[in-house]
Amino acid sequence: MPHNASLDDREFSQFQAWLHRAAGINLSPAKKSLVAGRLFKRLKHYELKSYGDYFKLIMTDQRKDELQVALDLLTTNETYFFREPKHFEFLRQHVLPGAAPGKVFRIWSAASSSGEEPYSLAMTLAEALGTTPWEVIGSDISTQVLAKARTGHYRMERIGNLPQSLLTRYCLKGIGRQAGTFLIERSLRNRVSFIQVNLNEALPNLGEFDVIFLRNVMIYFDPHTKSQVVARLLPLLKAGGYLIISHSESLNGVNDTLKLVAPSIYRKP
Ligand SMILES: C[S@@+](CC[C@H](N)C(=O)[O-])C[C@H]1O[C@@H](n2cnc3c(N)ncnc32)[C@H](O)[C@@H]1O
Repeated sequence: MPHNASLDDREFSQFQAWLHRAAGINLSPAKKSLVAGRLFKRLKHYELKSYGDYFKLIMTDQRKDELQVALDLLTTNETYFFREPKHFEFLRQHVLPGAAPGKVFRIWSAASSSGEEPYSLAMTLAEALGTTPWEVIGSDISTQVLAKARTGHYRMERIGNLPQSLLTRYCLKGIGRQAGTFLIERSLRNRVSFIQVNLNEALPNLGEFDVIFLRNVMIYFDPHTKSQVVARLLPLLKAGGYLIISHSESLNGVNDTLKLVAPSIYRKP
């Protein structure tokens, strides 16, 4: 058992270089103990003596599955329902009233984590759009969070800013063995699909979107990666569509074709 395995600087830089290459994610040296902590259980699982041995293991061609496990462990997936509520208010007040009747209104949550963001969007659309058809696509690089997202099943503590009225309308409260949890109602879940997308690679053809949410993921990218990611996303945004990033992020120096219309909300001309 690797009781005293420690991650040395050379090993850390191997993980750092790989994560940057694979996902565009920057790990500062301050993240060394976090990386060691998150990967330790995998060393234990394989009874490996060092992080270097684990790195070798994930780099062998036959271990694509373990490579994904390492990627899942090294991504930060924090999220909650109706995070940054101003964005949802903006949709309700300024975007959804202009949705073309009869045309499918499409939103992409491009780093959806475990689904709280796409389901918050789905509830917002269900409330506002009446008979206008709509769909939400959630994507992430982590297969683990996507599996969680597809279940639509959450612990009550995850409620975040989810208003009671929406909880009552769109969620089923668990009883018996499921007490303390809630499930997003099937009719809503059916309109939200999840797919693995690495924003650091060429994107699959997902069609065009009216709105793209790209929140709390660019904080992990360096300026060059940020520009590339935004440039990859823009062709998938309709003319007049909105790109919404986090209030703690900025597109300064990243893209000058988009017009800032409200804090952290950009519009494609
Ligand atoms: C902090 S969460 C943000 C979730 C949600 N957008 C929010 O604002 O609450 C960041 C997510 O970005 C994902 N991510 C990181 N790098 C990525 C990449 N290259 N491609 C796609 N997703 C990525 C992570 O797996 C993680 O689930």
